[in-house]
Amino acid sequence: MTILQALHLRRSSQWDPPTILDHLLTSPLKWIMSILYSYILFLRGRPFHPPPRPPSSSSSSSSVSGAGVEQQQEKGPIRVVCLSDTHDQTLPVPDGDLLVHAGDLTQDGSRESIQQQIDWLDGLPHRHKVFVGGNHDGWLDPEARRALLRERKSRRQIKLDFKSLRYLENSSVTLDFKGGRRLNVYGYGAVPECGDDTFAFQYKRSHDPWKGAIPPETDVLVTHTPPAHHLDLSLGCPGLLSEIWRTKPKLHIFGHIHWRAGTEPVYFDECQASYESLMSRPSPASPCYLLGLGPLLNDFFFFPFVLLSARSRAAWVDALAVLWYGINSILWKWIMQGPHSNNGGLFVNAAVMHGNTGKLRRGGNEKAVVVVEL
Ligand SMILES: *[C@@H]1O[C@H](CO)[C@@H](O)[C@H](O)[C@H]1NC(C)=O
Repeated sequence: MTILQALHLRRSSQWDPPTILDHLLTSPLKWIMSILYSYILFLRGRPFHPPPRPPSSSSSSSSVSGAGVEQQQEKGPIRVVCLSDTHDQTLPVPDGDLLVHAGDLTQDGSRESIQQQIDWLDGLPHRHKVFVGGNHDGWLDPEARRALLRERKSRRQIKLDFKSLRYLENSSVTLDFKGGRRLNVYGYGAVPECGDDTFAFQYKRSHDPWKGAIPPETDVLVTHTPPAHHLDLSLGCPGLLSEIWRTKPKLHIFGHIHWRAGTEPVYFDECQASYESLMSRPSPASPCYLLGLGPLLNDFFFFPFVLLSARSRAAWVDALAVLWYGINSILWKWIMQGPHSNNGGLFVNAAVMHGNTGKLRRGGNEKAVVVVEL
């Protein structure tokens, strides 16, 4: 650990959130734009609006109003309850129609630990339950299972009992809900390589298991890894991001990066494309890098524009495009279309673990769980 890390001026691992100094020493421009991008998304309002809730049952069935209206009303929203990274722990879970666990049910990946989490989830009242494995759920992956058995010889080969849960591994399921509504859910727990061979579903960063994997009709996507550049501490997967652009699911639930738990609207437009282009640029390198000042100087000090290096100029073009398209989208929405106009999607990093503390977020309260109405 360096002196700067000991003083908490720099983070001690890539899994921790960057400090202000970390931001300044990688790219202050990217940092500022990530903050502005979140403001832009906030000002665009809710990304979508679920069908209105049906009127309370007391005044229901005898109604003689127009059939079309009534059908519309009967549908109502589907409540999707999103969990991830419980790592053997349990917590109170809000009620809903679909429960999703996006992987890392356990810490050690043994069959016994996974079964315990399944038993807990099985006891919850949700109509449908779906989960994928995470890198910590080794038993689900035959290769990691062999490594687990090698390391703790005594375990027997008994099959897991999934009970009322649907386990997805590069596969889909169509689920029925009240009012005749349906959701197509695709799930796969693959993650970019991040640990030893007892970890499940790892792939090399040079390899892309996502290309063409997600069916285009997918409404809800469940993965363990985040896509690149969104709620990911720059550890997400670029291949998954491309596949998401191709299929544009309404809701994408993932986890893995505990410190970035939360939600982020997604619109698949020029503003987002420019933002991702900026974030995917390598951090600038220059002779001043030896002093740790390279990025700062590159991003800002060589103004005016013509004096910036070609690389920094490209980054600035992206940044200005984010602002231009972002401001346009906000004005267009609020002036031309009105409050209920959005037709976007939502990314959910559903990790309930509070960073690397081993404790659950919000004291293990049910507020640690994200609930989305679709
Ligand atoms: C995922 O499933 C698709 C279609 O079944 C298949 O073509 C593809 O090879 C699978 N990918 C992986 C990584 O297993």
